Amino acid sequence: MRLCVLNGSPKGRMSVTMQYVRYLEIAFPSVEFEILDIAAHIARIERNADKFFQVIDSVGRADAVLFAFPVYFFLVPSQYKRFIELVFEKNATDAFSGKPSASLSTSVHIVDHTAHNYISGIAQDFGTRFFGAYSADMEDLLKKAERKNLEAFFGAFVKAVQNSEPSPTLHLPLKAAKRVYKPGAVKQKVGLAQKKLLLLADRREEDSNLDKMITRFASCIEGDIEIAYIEEIGVKTGCSGCIGCHYDNRCRFDSSDGFRAFYENKVKKADILVYCGAMHDRYLSSLWKRFIDRSFYNGHVPTLMGKQVGWIISGPLSLEQNLVQLLNAYTRLMDANPVMLVSDEYKSSEIDALLETLASRLVVFAESSFVSPPDFIPTGVMNTFRNEIAGRLNFVFRADHRTYKKRGYYKIPQKGLRSRLLSLSIGPMLLVPAFRKQFSKRIPREMVRPYEPVLALEKFKRR
Ligand SMILES: Cc1cc2nc3c(=O)[nH]c(=O)nc-3n(C[C@H](O)[C@H](O)[C@H](O)COP(=O)(O)O)c2cc1C
Repeated sequence: MRLCVLNGSPKGRMSVTMQYVRYLEIAFPSVEFEILDIAAHIARIERNADKFFQVIDSVGRADAVLFAFPVYFFLVPSQYKRFIELVFEKNATDAFSGKPSASLSTSVHIVDHTAHNYISGIAQDFGTRFFGAYSADMEDLLKKAERKNLEAFFGAFVKAVQNSEPSPTLHLPLKAAKRVYKPGAVKQKVGLAQKKLLLLADRREEDSNLDKMITRFASCIEGDIEIAYIEEIGVKTGCSGCIGCHYDNRCRFDSSDGFRAFYENKVKKADILVYCGAMHDRYLSSLWKRFIDRSFYNGHVPTLMGKQVGWIISGPLSLEQNLVQLLNAYTRLMDANPVMLVSDEYKSSEIDALLETLASRLVVFAESSFVSPPDFIPTGVMNTFRNEIAGRLNFVFRADHRTYKKRGYYKIPQKGLRSRLLSLSIGPMLLVPAFRKQFSKRIPREMVRPYEPVLALEKFKRR
């Protein structure tokens, strides 16, 4: 069996993910591996059509394809994303069509499921029969049980290839009817008061729905609004994954392009952010992804605290819930408030109304400093970050460590005095069956008791 491995790590062979692939190569000598360093050589692959088609020929010759990548901001690195775009742009999906495929990633399991959802959708769009995903922790390969697990997964994949096993179709195709948006007159302008609004789009495509949505949105705002395009800021390269930023948040590209200055002086200083982009396959553009990846110089620290964030998207967003989840997760993880996602899937008059509503909500929430409480993703992520930065990543990510200490992120609620006293007093008493029976009966009542003084005080204050 011939396996084509599409390597998504910008670090090429010096990649953690590739150590897993090397392990499989050793464990399965009957499988012939061809590893192609896609992300590391994306500039060359994009510039040189021969290089691109050499990759496509290798895919065509293979019996199966393995998408192997590190998780970057809940997806694949921007360089790998660009390769996926090129396959569609150059109509090269035929090489993949009908082949079995699987995905293998390494990460620290921070929102890795959306990266695999994305790749399984792409694998399906490429026409492959997607076998399944293996999301390894960075250090799994060091553990015997995990190595066995990886072998079991890969062994089943090899068997599936040899037996031409079928695979289910789990993603809706993203072919939405394209409506042409015709903006109407602005009904009511929204004043920004003292708030700063930054609207950021990846690139300007004149007369596109997105361009018209941006213009229509901007025209209903009165106040300090700045419109910027990633293309013009000059974010020349994607994150290389070198982690050189670990000690003091300095990035090796700080002085060679405009990203850092823009992020520090514009993004961090805005009160309201409106991010705009067109869907390219099942995400936004690789340029947007490049922008997001480069913000990694901030380490594992939220950088948009208290800001209001709206998204204006052109594309079949409602068909791709993985993207909705990704964009909301990104906003919430930055400690910002996800206000609304507006796409161009509606009638023109409805888009007008949605854009005006977005403008007014952004301002209302900015004025009241509203941030919706974190749901599962930011809560789970911050707990994982805390464990990682306090634990195995502590010696590397020193800048994060300093910030976590300063912001009190290391505080663990179970270690609070009240919970410790309760555990010490009630815990042993629960060993007594009669006490346990009485206690169990009182649980519902005791659960609401702490709220009573809060409600009574509020009632008193409002009399
Ligand atoms: C820019 C950047 C973004 C990352 N984002 C995530 C993430 O969203 N979730 C996660 O679990 N790990 C994340 N990581 C950690 C990598 O996925 C992990 O270190 C991976 O093993 C690197 O693999 P590689 O050496 O093959 O490139 C990120 C690392 C970098 C450099």
